[in-house]
Amino acid sequence: MSLRFRINLLLTVFTVLFTVTVVKIVIDDTRRAIREEMEGANRVTMQLLTTVVRDSGTIARDGDADDLLLEFLRELGRVRAHDLQFFDSDDKLLYVSPPSVYKVGREAPAWFVALVRPQLPVINLPVRGGNLTVTVDPSRAVLDAWDDIKNLVAAVATFLVATNVLVFVLIGRSLRPVGAVLDGLQRMERGELHVRLPRFPVPEFQSISHTFNGMADALEQSQAENRRLALIAQQSSDAIMIHDVDGRVSYWNPAAERLFGFPAADIVGQSVRLITPPEREPELAAQSERLQARGVIDHLETRRRTRDGRELDIALAAAPLVDPVSGDVIGEISTMRDITQLKRAREAEAELAQNRRLTQIIQASLEEERRVIARELHDELGQCVTAVRTIGTVIAQRTEGTDPDIHRSARTIVEVAGHIYDTVHGIIRQLRPSALDHLGLSDALEEAVGRWRELHPDMIFTLDVEGDVSALGETVNITVYRIVQECLTNIVKHARARRAEVQVRRIDRRLLVEVRDDGRGLTEPEAQRATRFGLLGMRERAEALGGQFTLDGAPGQGLRVRVELPLNPAVVPPGEATA
Ligand SMILES: Nc1ncnc2c1ncn2[C@@H]1O[C@H](COP(=O)(O)OP(=O)(O)OP(=O)(O)O)[C@@H](O)[C@H]1O
Ligand SMILES: [Mg+2]
Repeated sequence: MSLRFRINLLLTVFTVLFTVTVVKIVIDDTRRAIREEMEGANRVTMQLLTTVVRDSGTIARDGDADDLLLEFLRELGRVRAHDLQFFDSDDKLLYVSPPSVYKVGREAPAWFVALVRPQLPVINLPVRGGNLTVTVDPSRAVLDAWDDIKNLVAAVATFLVATNVLVFVLIGRSLRPVGAVLDGLQRMERGELHVRLPRFPVPEFQSISHTFNGMADALEQSQAENRRLALIAQQSSDAIMIHDVDGRVSYWNPAAERLFGFPAADIVGQSVRLITPPEREPELAAQSERLQARGVIDHLETRRRTRDGRELDIALAAAPLVDPVSGDVIGEISTMRDITQLKRAREAEAELAQNRRLTQIIQASLEEERRVIARELHDELGQCVTAVRTIGTVIAQRTEGTDPDIHRSARTIVEVAGHIYDTVHGIIRQLRPSALDHLGLSDALEEAVGRWRELHPDMIFTLDVEGDVSALGETVNITVYRIVQECLTNIVKHARARRAEVQVRRIDRRLLVEVRDDGRGLTEPEAQRATRFGLLGMRERAEALGGQFTLDGAPGQGLRVRVELPLNPAVVPPGEATA
């Protein structure tokens, strides 16, 4: 039953009860009033009649008293609410008073009459020659009372209808926003969170509208946020898993499905032990303790097991899941990433770095060995050859003109010793470019290129050094020198080139070395050939210093060897850079 209808019903019930009470009071009053009125009228009438009858008896001595009384009664007509009847001594009705003309023809309903009509006796007044009866007739008074009550009830009914209509309309108008509010709530229940209520003129409803709209905003925002988070979780490339405090999985995203091979339907509800290798189970116990303490894991490298039994290296991050309402920890959310490849790459990188250090050490000890051999050659062999040459010269001087055979032999010894000396010096230069120690990289390269020019006057050798290469350190210097040396040797040995260009450029903390020729170029199999040491050695030297080595050039288009070396402190050992 609607509120509107209830209010109207209540109003009607109250009005009816009120009306019934009023009517009852009115009826009681009416009954009393009619009785009093009738009794009063009775007394007056009886008084009058008694007087008239007595007088008519007195006067009748001179005439007929009946006639006199009859005449009086006829003249008198009707006395208020009394019916008068005059019977002679034979009970013959001689006279009856005329009926009332007041509201003639109308009567109150019998039940009402029975309710209010007073019971008054018929009065007999014996007179000479007959009997006068006086009967009280309250029907007019009753009818009057009935009309009054009818009017009252009609007025109340009119008032009731008018009030009901007014209340119905007013309540209908005031409750009109309820429809809009209900509609809004129902649409929201169906999930239409964009629904908003309008402004209402009634303050209470305006307050409801304001609260409703605020709630809808908050719901819409949190739904959008949830959707965004769900989308992120769905599309994340990391495996995301949520489990409760007992370790039962409750969420498993597609990346987790791909990584571990378990479809969500197969793992949701299962224990996280399913993906935990036995030796990692202590981690789960620690995890449960950490959850109680609301601790987080930023980064843990561990291992987890796939559906087919493979073990993966995993980087794991985890945080407790807290119920926003109760504030209790209800589980944990973990993201997992497969770092198997990364770990392998890291191991390979470490291995490479170790190899580089090893190559550097080997190169350094090779250079040291060369330096020792060069010194030995210079100090020992060089001294001996010089001694032989000096002795040969002395013998030649002493035998000149005296012993031509010995003189010739002595001259030959001097020449061969000179040749050996030059060769030994050439070897010493190859083993240890002393210019590097004395003059620095630029001049050492200039000296080396100069020697190639002397040896191959038919070819053009150029050297171009840009930037400050004066303090690169011994390791870098010897590396660059050996690379240029090997390149020029290769050009002369293999390229059949007319021109060889050497370029060394320092750009900030990088050193670029390029050696180009216009010879026959390099075929792919030649470039890949690992049996030779020259190209391989250059690459190893460059990589040992963290640099890059590249070969360019198709067959017939010459060859370009390009080496790029970083000049950071990591590869330029401290102290050397300023040496
Ligand atoms: N500038 C060049 N032009 C043409 N071919 C070249 C050039 N440099 C190298 N090559 C080719 O590349 C091959 C490999 O060169 P690499 O320097 O590694 O070996 P190598 O010079 O033959 O022997 P070594 O170990 O004594 O240096 C050479 O045998 C040669 O065929
Ligand atoms: Mg070579």
